[in-house]
Amino acid sequence: MKNAITMKSRRDFIKTGCIACMGLTGMASLLEACSAPLQVVKLTNPSGSDLLTVPLSKFTDQIKMVLVRSAAVDDDILLVKNGESYRALLMMCTHEGVALTATDSKIYCNAHGSQFDFAGNVTKEPALKPLKQFKTEILNNSINIYLNQKI
Ligand code: FES
Repeated sequence: MKNAITMKSRRDFIKTGCIACMGLTGMASLLEACSAPLQVVKLTNPSGSDLLTVPLSKFTDQIKMVLVRSAAVDDDILLVKNGESYRALLMMCTHEGVALTATDSKIYCNAHGSQFDFAGNVTKEPALKPLKQFKTEILNNSINIYLNQKI
């Protein structure tokens, strides 16, 4: 009889522990998704325009990346400060073309779990190719993103 009680208790403990772990995992994902919302820079460039211009003032010592949104391009562009230059990463997964999400530590895809670093390199498959990047140039206190010049 004592063993039956112990067995039930162990089962309950494992069951409760598994539920708690699932809850913590879900909470961690939720917190990650909620952490540090990125500033979105909406540009009014018309569709078909090859040049996006983002003011340098959008970046500070604390703000090292912004999302650039424009009708000129179907997906957002993550503009990342990299020393004295800037990287313009197309936020489209190279696995099957799904829109990506950026946190302050990584870029990830909700569809099948691919992850990328802020240089655009794959850090977790199934994606195999790096993110598309556009040429950037600093000119007149702005960052120019040339949509017709992929690098
Ligand atoms: S579409 Fe992004 S991982 Fe499959």
